[in-house]
Amino acid sequence: MSPSGEYECYRHGNYPTHLHDCPKCEEAEQTERLARARIPKRYAQKNINDYKVSTAAQKNSLRIAQYFIENFEGEVQQFGKMLVFLGEPGTGKTLLATLILQAIAPKHGGLYTEASEIIQSVRRSWRKESLVTEGEVIKYYVNQTLLVIDEIGAQYCTAGEQLILESVLGLRYAHLMPTILLTNNTYEELETIILGEKIIDRLNEIAVWVPFDWESFRQPAAAHSVQNAQVISMPRRRK
Ligand SMILES: Nc1ncnc2c1ncn2[C@@H]1O[C@H](COP(=O)(O)OP(=O)(O)OP(=O)(O)O)[C@@H](O)[C@H]1O
Ligand SMILES: [Mg+2]
Ligand SMILES: [Zn+2]
Repeated sequence: MSPSGEYECYRHGNYPTHLHDCPKCEEAEQTERLARARIPKRYAQKNINDYKVSTAAQKNSLRIAQYFIENFEGEVQQFGKMLVFLGEPGTGKTLLATLILQAIAPKHGGLYTEASEIIQSVRRSWRKESLVTEGEVIKYYVNQTLLVIDEIGAQYCTAGEQLILESVLGLRYAHLMPTILLTNNTYEELETIILGEKIIDRLNEIAVWVPFDWESFRQPAAAHSVQNAQVISMPRRRK
């Protein structure tokens, strides 16, 4: 404590004693935790007000996300709650999941990943020259406070791939680690070829299934401007 009755941070100077930690250090740690969550740039720039809702089903998806955020330290972590967002491309699954992660990560940490990335990391660990073991890779994904796994079902869905996802999800279930799964596939496809009955049985116990069954939000305007750009940049025919 300094003579003036304040605590001292060697990096940021004095701060009042009623604060347990240096507020500037805490702020830096929050920024660092958010960066480590690896939210893709497109979504990292958004905030909850960017998630537009008009139908009852859309409002419901937002309510579930808000409930998950508000009760993260309570019910969600206590029971290791999971969310499964199912729906067609462009319906906002990645947007809503990354908005949740954005709210949780500064304080708790967390990670955004894709199913194929988990599978590839595990496969890389099998190589002779790998510096990490398969167990360490699995542990890395199991230990994330909140894990968002995007693009479930976009991989080949072999028995080997199913086994890798089964280890990560099975352990996250066992250790009560909150997880959000995103997929373009149906419940039946998840059960039969993508995750398997064992994981589906666990999800049925602790997951909230959220169907994103509305039109895509992706704007065709972007495609038009690309087409126009191509037309403009086409070489002129010589006369
Ligand atoms: N409710 C919404 N309000 C405003 N913009 C939205 C909403 N939902 C999605 N978008 C926008 O639409 C685009 C597609 O959303 P997103 O990438 O989250 O879809 P997705 O369901 O993850 O699609 P895919 O299954 O192809 O991965 C993004 O640019 C996103 O910001
Ligand atoms: Mg997506
Ligand atoms: Zn400090």
